[in-house]
Amino acid sequence: SAGTRFTADGGATVGGVPLTDIATRFGTPAYVIDETDLRARCRAYRAALPDAEVVYAAKAFLCRAMASWVREEGLGLDVASGGELAVAASVGFPAERIVFHGNAKTPRELAAAVEAGVGRIVVDTLAEINHLAAIVPFGRRQKVLIRVIPDIDAGAHRAIRTGGEDQKFGMSIASGAAAEAVARTLGQSSLELAGLHCHLGSQIVTPEPFERAARVMVEQLAQIRDTHGVTLPELDLGGGHGIPYLDGERGLDLESYARRVDDAVRAQAAWLGLPVPRLIIEPGRAVSGPAGLTLYRVITVKRGLSRIFVAVDGGMSDNPRPCLYGARYTARMIGRRSGAATRAATVVGHHCEAGDTLAEDVELPADIRPGDLIAVAATGAYHHSMASTYNMTGRPPVVAVASGRARLVVRREEPADLMLRDVGL
Ligand code: LLP
Repeated sequence: SAGTRFTADGGATVGGVPLTDIATRFGTPAYVIDETDLRARCRAYRAALPDAEVVYAAKAFLCRAMASWVREEGLGLDVASGGELAVAASVGFPAERIVFHGNAKTPRELAAAVEAGVGRIVVDTLAEINHLAAIVPFGRRQKVLIRVIPDIDAGAHRAIRTGGEDQKFGMSIASGAAAEAVARTLGQSSLELAGLHCHLGSQIVTPEPFERAARVMVEQLAQIRDTHGVTLPELDLGGGHGIPYLDGERGLDLESYARRVDDAVRAQAAWLGLPVPRLIIEPGRAVSGPAGLTLYRVITVKRGLSRIFVAVDGGMSDNPRPCLYGARYTARMIGRRSGAATRAATVVGHHCEAGDTLAEDVELPADIRPGDLIAVAATGAYHHSMASTYNMTGRPPVVAVASGRARLVVRREEPADLMLRDVGL
């Protein structure tokens, strides 16, 4: 994160707190979140798009502290399950600033969202529109957005591309489903159609796909005006803003994203004679990802023919992304001075699978040994939230650093926690 400092003697601090102290106090593996940096990212989003509603995508990283930070920074919250909604509710997150997502919301989740009074529900199927309309209490109107497929292919990996045809999210413009959804929603007196939504995919690092989506979506708003005579006030362009993971990589530049998307929306609206819709954006990774790192302790070092295998006390249970998406990370030894030259190394986990790799082809000091500490950067998004308990491994704690202090916000999961749900014989 911006608050991480390394020195030549192996010193490493986050927000002024030595990582060695954090490892001693909270154990390893541990997720460390630079709260100051994370809050600065929230503010940068609001400053870059002052007229837009910035809605943080909770799936990237959520705990009760995080929900509070997001609330305090004035962002909305995108939730995609009843569980995420429950976390938001537990810290009194203002319901009207919550956007509820999902391609297969259960009747219970929809009921919970309506009951909580969430600001917007993003409908994803035709059947959902009728179901939702039927459960809204008499005399109330639920705001909805319709998720459409803009037919734009973008995103870092097949598994996280959602803007093209023939995938499970949203309704196709080409097939007529999106137009049918608009007609149906307008016909329901218990629903208020606030606007349209799309989400292209994740880890997108250039503004062009978003610009294209903005044009396609404003065009859809114009179609709706032409067909139904209504002007929808909102346009939600989803998230997907990419971040750097490796040294020298670049993420999506927020300033140019903001300028180009804003320009595209304004130009297209002017061209089609529409008022400029209120923008909603849903960044997840770009808010929490760079603010996090993971601390591991080296358990074994194996010297292969051409490389060393450095096995640590975590692995695919706290970071499944290399296995799922071929994601790549850097790793750095911290905590002591090493005069040794570096060698090609692979950082592996402690799980019973050969694919259990955390960082491939990294340079680590040749004298790295058990007990050393390793820090992996940019782990604040889709790590804690996607962690599993494979091999009955408890999930790592989350340690937040702010004002020169480290504090626990999620404690480590212990074997006893893991057995809580197991009712036995
Ligand atoms: N809005 C919607 C409707 C989404 O589906 C997502 C992510 C976001 C916003 C936030 O996207 P972001 O800004 O974080 O890219 N587990 C994968 C990423 C899956 C993203 C799913 N949807 C990974 O670790 O790369």
